[in-house]
Amino acid sequence: VSDERRVASDPSRTAETTATQRAAERHMPADRRLLDDPYARHFVSRRPFRLLASAPPLARGTLRLLDRRFPGLHAIILLRGAFGDRVIDEHPQLEQVVLMGAGFDSSAWRKAREGLRFFEVDAPTTQGAKRELMARAGLESPAVLVPCDFELSKPGPLLRDAGLDPARPTLTLWLGVTYYLTLEAFRGALEDIAGYTAPGGLLVLDYGDESVISDTSPYIGARRAAAWVEKRGEPYVTGFTREELDAELSAKGFDLAEHLRMPELAERAGPPGGAWCSLDDWARVALARRRAN
Ligand SMILES: C[S@@+](CC[C@H](N)C(=O)[O-])C[C@H]1O[C@@H](n2cnc3c(N)ncnc32)[C@H](O)[C@@H]1O
Repeated sequence: VSDERRVASDPSRTAETTATQRAAERHMPADRRLLDDPYARHFVSRRPFRLLASAPPLARGTLRLLDRRFPGLHAIILLRGAFGDRVIDEHPQLEQVVLMGAGFDSSAWRKAREGLRFFEVDAPTTQGAKRELMARAGLESPAVLVPCDFELSKPGPLLRDAGLDPARPTLTLWLGVTYYLTLEAFRGALEDIAGYTAPGGLLVLDYGDESVISDTSPYIGARRAAAWVEKRGEPYVTGFTREELDAELSAKGFDLAEHLRMPELAERAGPPGGAWCSLDDWARVALARRRAN
């Protein structure tokens, strides 16, 4: 693990940019909007970002520019969130949702319902920044916040100490995170997720096509995104083929229930009027179900 990993010393920049994109997306027309997140703006701290996320024409213009520069990036960030929302809505039996690498995600507010508890796990740096920004905005989190760096610690015991009950129906959302983890940290966290997920429980994750990590992707958006995150100390380090992901999940007791490439993701979780942005196809979303041991 590199000593220069940003999240070891500072809050995640990529978490801030995804929050900025969600905040700006509010200003897109309702029938083309990929996700409606009224909380995201509270987590945009950099001044220029705040400005562009708050002025509607500027927000729309900037998102279009960003989408032209990084085709496919905005779609995966927003649509994976929209898919997570759908899975929560479609499973009323759920009692716990765990967000792994939650960043500035606001599902705990947006998807709150009686009998559903949220747990958010993230590196202490990013989670500390979230606490500060919440305090500044006068927001209280309905989620239990669990600090954990997946490269250094296993999340399972920390979640149990924080009150997660493995006997209850649980969904884990692991969105926008696998790309940044070493394979060892990915496997360690997946093992723990399997450990606290009772049979029938669910896991949603997104991941990069292997070519995104080896910098051989035919998609310019993937190559430019990889260069951008690397420069900011959060390089993409792990990706999979579908077969490899299936094998990783299966080894830990999960069956792949849905595997969505970008066009299918837009179909399943996109807005009624169709996505306004590029659907370049270099990241995937998987829904997996825990099988009985
Ligand atoms: C691109 S952001 C995604 C945030 C949010 N889930 C979303 O979809 O917008 C990546 C997140 O992974 C977290 N992360 C990256 N490496 C991590 C690690 N080793 N341990 C814990 N969290 C990590 C970062 O702090 C950040 O919040």
